[in-house]
Amino acid sequence: MATKVNVKTTRNAASYDISIGRGSLKNAGEWAKSVMPGSSGRAAIISNRKVFGLYGNAVKKSLENAGFEPHVQLIGDGERFKNLRTLEDTLRFLSGSKFTRTDSIVALGGGVVGDLAGFAASVYLRGIDLLQVPTTLLSMIDSSVGGKTGVNSSFGKNLIGAFYQPRGVLIDTNTLLTLPEREVTAGFCEAVKQGAISDRSLLDKTAKILGQLEGRRLHERLGEDSFSENFARFLAAQISFKARIVAGDERESVAKTDARSRKILNFGHTFGHALEKVTNYRYFRHGEAVGHGIRFAAALSKNLELIGQNEVELLNDVVRRAGSLPSLGSIDPSEIFATFKYDKKMINDSLQWILLEGIGKPVIFSHAKIRQAVLAASFKEITRS
Ligand SMILES: NC(=O)c1ccc[n+]([C@@H]2O[C@H](COP(=O)([O-])OP(=O)(O)OC[C@H]3O[C@@H](n4cnc5c(N)ncnc54)[C@H](O)[C@@H]3O)[C@@H](O)[C@H]2O)c1
Ligand SMILES: [Zn+2]
Repeated sequence: MATKVNVKTTRNAASYDISIGRGSLKNAGEWAKSVMPGSSGRAAIISNRKVFGLYGNAVKKSLENAGFEPHVQLIGDGERFKNLRTLEDTLRFLSGSKFTRTDSIVALGGGVVGDLAGFAASVYLRGIDLLQVPTTLLSMIDSSVGGKTGVNSSFGKNLIGAFYQPRGVLIDTNTLLTLPEREVTAGFCEAVKQGAISDRSLLDKTAKILGQLEGRRLHERLGEDSFSENFARFLAAQISFKARIVAGDERESVAKTDARSRKILNFGHTFGHALEKVTNYRYFRHGEAVGHGIRFAAALSKNLELIGQNEVELLNDVVRRAGSLPSLGSIDPSEIFATFKYDKKMINDSLQWILLEGIGKPVIFSHAKIRQAVLAASFKEITRS
């Protein structure tokens, strides 16, 4: 039985469903037909060699059986391929395959594929139908929900893109059986982030599912029916939270600064992005950097007297359960602090931190109000514990 989460939007489509199931890839064609009733003909499966090698044929066959004409475009594997060049290659492929306004794109992969394919769908002929089939934990709970698409460029990460909602999202939890352990940890860190800013119950659900792993790997537990059902409920809770935030602030309004602004999803990201940047995006997976970012934001919130030590310990504990993170050992904090000057979340020249006044109580806090010594003390704390 598939679990469904509805996402309300104002653009492209009134709303769409995210369907969570086990083994659902083999029904991808029927599902595609049901969410795109007007669609005819061609469907471009955009993926990379690794993911397509694992799951591509199942999706292709199912689309064929449902009457689609699948075409396959494989992009390079990794963040560095999420760029304008790959976008152009993809647009050339769509044009060369004579895709029209009634054809569609199926993004099969993690966030890199989803962001790139989504952006291509938004600009090709000013927009063709998009289906997201996320295959990493991070893309299931985060990047495939909410309609942000885009590429990296010489101006920075994710600065060129569009808000573009898919017609549907299909999650097959069986795809996680092959996901490498570091990617699992990275995804769980984003889940902890969402728990921290949502409410105690989402954080508890996240801690609980991590506890139920009982030290074993996710793929080992996913084979068990009862765990798998709990896991689907955990995914649905995570996705519902993100969908709720997105519905209230679809285009991340600059003026919106309350606790339900889409900006709060950047909790853990100011420090996380800085870590990725100073290590040239080579050392941390994005979600791992966010894991450290959560710990930093928690320490900073405490040092600004917004939360107490108990909350810091609780968050550190859940991050620890998410998996082990690459060490911060060799990183020079002054390099990290220097990057805060150029963060893209800068509004009117002031970087805005997302901090916590409690679990589920995010606040937007101006960087200008934080003394360097407080940043330094917070960094020291997270390298110690
Ligand atoms: N649009 C948004 O709102 C949003 C939100 C968060 C992150 N992002 C973006 O998402 C990207 C990160 O996404 P990601 O963490 O999914 O990384 P990714 O897409 O690079 O995937 C991680 C790795 O896992 C492999 N992989 C994917 N599925 C697999 C599977 N089922 N089995 C085995 N291997 C598999 C991929 O080939 C890749 O090597 C970043 O570019 C980030 O900017 C976007
Ligand atoms: Zn993130």
